Amino acid sequence: MTNNIKNAELFSLFWENSKINKRTILKFAKKLDEDARTARSVSQIFYPTEDLLLSKPKDKIAQLMSERKSTRAFTNFAFSEKQLGSLFHAFRLKETTSRLLPSAGGKYPIEVYAFLFNVQGGLNKQITYYNPDSHSLSIVAKCPDWDEVKESFGLKLKGQPAVFFIFIAIPERTIDKYGERGGRFILTEAGHYAQNLALRLALEKLGGVISGALYDDEIKKLLNLQNTNALVTLGFACGNFKQ
Ligand SMILES: Cc1cc2nc3c(=O)[nH]c(=O)nc-3n(C[C@H](O)[C@H](O)[C@H](O)COP(=O)(O)O)c2cc1C
Repeated sequence: MTNNIKNAELFSLFWENSKINKRTILKFAKKLDEDARTARSVSQIFYPTEDLLLSKPKDKIAQLMSERKSTRAFTNFAFSEKQLGSLFHAFRLKETTSRLLPSAGGKYPIEVYAFLFNVQGGLNKQITYYNPDSHSLSIVAKCPDWDEVKESFGLKLKGQPAVFFIFIAIPERTIDKYGERGGRFILTEAGHYAQNLALRLALEKLGGVISGALYDDEIKKLLNLQNTNALVTLGFACGNFKQ
């Protein structure tokens, strides 16, 4: 299953070469092991001048940003409908025409899907698509059990996530305007979505972690997107975290 994006052949090639699957994960894991054995702490850039200290903000956003962290162990508490609404609100369309997120050229290539593994109410065990204009969900397919599919989600977790968000990109929206350069914008924008979600998780005192190692084609298949050029950019496992 290859992605062949018109007007961005090199981006398509880069995408194919960086896909994860049962075969490429072996090489990827080897690189991670090597890094764990050899990596030192990240060095700071240093200018030999006096440090000019800045004042520290003491507001709500600064507080939330300091509470954000990655957590990888979850309890089996289901998310309430209220918590679900709060998390998806990270991606909502504003009352006007723009979203709460920036987007190069206003092309909004990122779409949000979520596997609802453990939520209260009728949406439990559904795979859903988020409608940012009406702040609502559409059902895409039945959601398999976490244990059945966890390998494709590329994370080693303790317990199961309540919800697993997937940020999908429709590359043509951005590439048709920006060509190869648009590839950079798509990836940058996925990061904005992840950060917005991370802040709402901190607000809700919930836990979560980004997955950068999703098995691209397996996830596409689960979302019924296998015959499209959709790109699986990032995933985000969320749950009530275990202290
Ligand atoms: C693009 C990206 C990909 C990531 N992929 C993974 C991943 O595959 N598995 C994982 O356990 N953590 C992943 N993380 C989380 C980082 O390991 C984590 O952010 C980092 O260790 C700093 O810790 P903190 O988030 O608690 O501040 C990823 C983070 C980013 C931004």
